[in-house]
Amino acid sequence: SERSNSVSSGTRNRSFSVASLALSFADSLGFTGGLLSTYNPDAPVLIKRLGLFSGLALVIGLQIGSGIFASPGNVSANTGSIGAALTTWVIAGLLAWTGALSYAELGAALPHNGGAQVYLQHVYGPFLSFLYSWCAIVLLKPGSAAIIAVVFGEYVNRAAFGALDLSPTLMVWLDKIIALVGLFLAVLLNSFSTRKAASFSNILVICKFAILIAVIVFGIVYAAAGAVEGHKPGAFDNGIWSNTSKDISQFATALYSALWAFDGWDNVNFIAGDLKEPTKTLPKIVQFAMPTVIIAYLIVNISYFLVLPLPEINATNTVALAFGDRVLGYTGRLIFACAVGLSCFGALNATMFSSARLIQSAARNNFIPRYFAAGEEGKVPLRSLLLFAVLIVVYVLVGNFEQLVIIYGVSGYLFYFITVLGVIILRFRDRTLYRPYKVWLSTPIIFCCVALFLMSRGIFSKPMSSIITLAFIAAGVPIYFITKNTDLFGKA
Ligand code: ARG
Repeated sequence: SERSNSVSSGTRNRSFSVASLALSFADSLGFTGGLLSTYNPDAPVLIKRLGLFSGLALVIGLQIGSGIFASPGNVSANTGSIGAALTTWVIAGLLAWTGALSYAELGAALPHNGGAQVYLQHVYGPFLSFLYSWCAIVLLKPGSAAIIAVVFGEYVNRAAFGALDLSPTLMVWLDKIIALVGLFLAVLLNSFSTRKAASFSNILVICKFAILIAVIVFGIVYAAAGAVEGHKPGAFDNGIWSNTSKDISQFATALYSALWAFDGWDNVNFIAGDLKEPTKTLPKIVQFAMPTVIIAYLIVNISYFLVLPLPEINATNTVALAFGDRVLGYTGRLIFACAVGLSCFGALNATMFSSARLIQSAARNNFIPRYFAAGEEGKVPLRSLLLFAVLIVVYVLVGNFEQLVIIYGVSGYLFYFITVLGVIILRFRDRTLYRPYKVWLSTPIIFCCVALFLMSRGIFSKPMSSIITLAFIAAGVPIYFITKNTDLFGKA
């Protein structure tokens, strides 16, 4: 047992890096179809084949997902006015940007696969690194998949049954049922063929860009046509700052929703070791991707406001549907429903592939029962896939978009905070570390302050969600110490 322990702790980090690598590759399957089919966790390194564009695609492809079609109503309802809502989007974007820059410093100095898991290991040691992986398995991955499934359900449901005038309770349950159907289809797709799933996702990335551009173009045309007729368009008829909320907790809630749409900014860090010149490419990717996405989201939001009245935006999680309805009638509604539904389904599918492998790899390291380690190389890890699906079902059944976004945000930003704090700590502790890319020290400091504010507000405004989050993370603590010293979960 002495020996098997040392073996298992020796492999712990490496396996997890590779798992994270698969994870982030698969998260944006569209660009990785070829690599996935040759995926082999025992291979020391993959061929360095990812350049600037692949990296950009990894980041942007993951960021543009469900959020920009689901969060806007939540943001404007909580901030009260157009001006405050747009400001919140900008702040969220800038915060994500400072985070991504800080991660770029870490990624350039420690250019390995695995992202935060590597940095936490370097700065704080194995415990926090384990806790992060644990949290990814029980909370971050299934939580984010559940959010995407819920948005999928809401879009498809409203497109299919919206005209029937069903009771709100029934609609909520239909949302969930359709979310679960989408989930089931994604499980099915994943258990049959990785290849099909991969080429399917290729098309979806293009689809995402197309929807954003469509929203922008339709918004401008619609507003221009309205202006010709001489009335102020959409939500702009009441002055852009009127009714701005004065409740700081509401701003925090809004910020979480907007941050969800920007989430994924750390995606390229997971595969830093496979970039052609990580030390140069990584910062470039961040410097290009972040402003692009921030500007795109800002214009898309303005487009929504140009077309729809504020109360209508505030009341919906499916703003693109209302938007499609307004500009093109029922056809527009259906087009946007299908497009957003597909985009969500693609994301769900990709996340499922990577997370199943993450769970499998955790089981191999005795973090969770060995039972879930089953599955040959290159084959579908069915047990871990099903475990992942079960976790998502639970989250879908008990949560709604807003709660899930807060739970995801509190836990996600806790680890982002700890990781970015590491940038500051390393600056003092490890002055000689070679840092090919250095941010101004103010960047991680700003990120840490805002993240602290966010977490504290999240805890105050949604205590239940936050307690659940912390309980999940805390549950990882005994597991770390138990699995470290025993063979509780079977032989390694
Ligand atoms: N920003 C994405 C969206 O709006 C969510 C990204 C989820 N994060 C992740 N690491 N998979 O849908």
